[in-house]
Amino acid sequence: MSELEKRLEKIFSETTEEEHKLYKKAAQEIKNGNLVAFPTETVYGLGADALNAEAVAKIYEAKGRPSDNPLILHVSGLEMVKKLVELNENAVKLMEAFWPGPLSVVLPAKEIVPSRTRGGLETAAVRMPDNRIALELIKEADLPIAAPSANKSGRPSPTDAETVRNDIGSAVTYVLDGGETHYGLESTVVDMTGENPVMLRPGGVTAKDIERVLGLKVQKPMDANTIKRSPGTRYRHYAPKLPMYLSSPEEAEKMAKNKKWGWIGTGEPTGKPEVRIMFANKEEYAHELFRTLRNIENMGIELIIAEKPDEEGIGRALLDRLNRAAGN
Ligand code: TXA
Ligand code: MG
Repeated sequence: MSELEKRLEKIFSETTEEEHKLYKKAAQEIKNGNLVAFPTETVYGLGADALNAEAVAKIYEAKGRPSDNPLILHVSGLEMVKKLVELNENAVKLMEAFWPGPLSVVLPAKEIVPSRTRGGLETAAVRMPDNRIALELIKEADLPIAAPSANKSGRPSPTDAETVRNDIGSAVTYVLDGGETHYGLESTVVDMTGENPVMLRPGGVTAKDIERVLGLKVQKPMDANTIKRSPGTRYRHYAPKLPMYLSSPEEAEKMAKNKKWGWIGTGEPTGKPEVRIMFANKEEYAHELFRTLRNIENMGIELIIAEKPDEEGIGRALLDRLNRAAGN
């Protein structure tokens, strides 16, 4: 048995009879072509049978998502992956090293994957989430589950079940509740269709992690020979209703320009913000970011100033999401 299979066996062994009944019912809804929201280790997903174009259309409708923005196919085993995409040696190395976990791998799609799931592209992104509920749902349905984050397009991704219910509750048959998600930011998306990996979206698995496993340089989309990008990055994300700026704690007061402002970050800011939301470290900042962005705009302030994190570890992904929220 491979290490990956051992990890999965251990995860599945923890499911109780009672839980199993629920996952079975939810999986039946997936098979029937309906939507089910579920937790992953990153954010909550809005799931449908990835091989059923009509079911997938319901996802786009519920989110108000542009139809050319492709979905990630969530799997519960390598056998499933082989049916969906053309594998190569390096892609398999990454899967064995980081799955289940926050890494989505883009590969040439096989014909079985409907064009609608792929947003019309020739490739598809696959990922095995590190969450028992998600894995059970996929395994019970015995289908790959296409799932974007379970928010309305343009809103921050949901990191708890209640936020999912508020955003898109009426569109789904079940919201499986797994409490708060572990990372709070979406998965890393890496394109493995060429010689070198291309980082399309930073996340919990970093470029350094990938370089360590493959011994290959990870390229940025603009360095790649062919221009590659994650279509999703074209659209404005996580737009708060207030103006938002990034700053160091030292420069915070200057950025505020005498307006009523709120601070989010790990360091103590200069000046007197009306609202101060502080985190113990970068990991907590990442974990709490989306919820904070949803809450802070209702706290009677005129602008948001967020600490610009360093780019080590999760910092790269955190900075990416902050820049997008600020419209940079
Ligand atoms: O952590 C996550 O990845 C979460 C959970 C639910 O798994 N899902 C998520 O999905 O963030 P979504 O749809 O919000 O973001 C998917 C990203 C988009 O930027 C999309 O453009 C990109 O992945 N993507 C999907 N398929 C792709 C492909 N074939 N080529 C390039 N980018 C792709
Ligand atoms: Mg999203």
